[in-house]
Amino acid sequence: MDKKLIVNACKPEGELGSKLLEKMNKSHEDLALWGVSHLSINDNDIILDIGCGGGVNVKRFNEMTPNGKVYGLDYSEVSVKKSIHLNESAIKEGKVEIIQGSVSKLPFENNTFNIATCFETVYFWSDFVEDLKEVNRVLKPGGIIFICNEAVGEEYVLEKMKKYIEILDMNIYSEKELRFALFNAGFTDIETLRKENTDWVSVLACKKYMKNIRI
Ligand SMILES: C[S@@+](CC[C@H](N)C(=O)[O-])C[C@H]1O[C@@H](n2cnc3c(N)ncnc32)[C@H](O)[C@@H]1O
Repeated sequence: MDKKLIVNACKPEGELGSKLLEKMNKSHEDLALWGVSHLSINDNDIILDIGCGGGVNVKRFNEMTPNGKVYGLDYSEVSVKKSIHLNESAIKEGKVEIIQGSVSKLPFENNTFNIATCFETVYFWSDFVEDLKEVNRVLKPGGIIFICNEAVGEEYVLEKMKKYIEILDMNIYSEKELRFALFNAGFTDIETLRKENTDWVSVLACKKYMKNIRI
């Protein structure tokens, strides 16, 4: 892939960003389906998809939650536009909202979401543990964070991805680093999954359920 296009993966901009989002909506589909197969979603769940990109996962979650609501958040204006376009009718029905913002300062009240998902985005977060704490804040007690990455931080992957790491200044985390960051951000019941014969990794973790908390 050409450098001008690759550079858009961390924050899509302009026409090239728009083109890359269309590509990613298709090229990330198998990864997303594998990831979603590990999630138990109730029809009334309130879901936040962070780094929603072209909005394909927002659309999928909306179809899975007829009595719930799905929010997509992204700090790129182009990603927000694309996601709005793809989810236009659900937005009109009040079932979906797409918001421009950063994971570092989520524009939501504490204890709002049942599930927060992060597909192919944590590589670019500026302060991983602090950003995870922010996700933890907006999850309901017992709520789930789900991270799904097509690249795991193992020696051979880091070597293979060298060009991307340099261009994008991205962090490709190992299973151990993902677990450690989630633990440090206050999550419990952390479970990592690997898909055989791929570099894919996903993690599920839970916001601690506290007695006597009113939500
Ligand atoms: C590689 S794309 C993945 C898009 C989509 N989730 C997918 O799987 O196709 C990464 C997305 O995360 C967004 N992103 C990266 N860092 C972010 C941050 N700190 N806050 C909000 N969005 C972020 C980017 O703007 C981009 O749209």
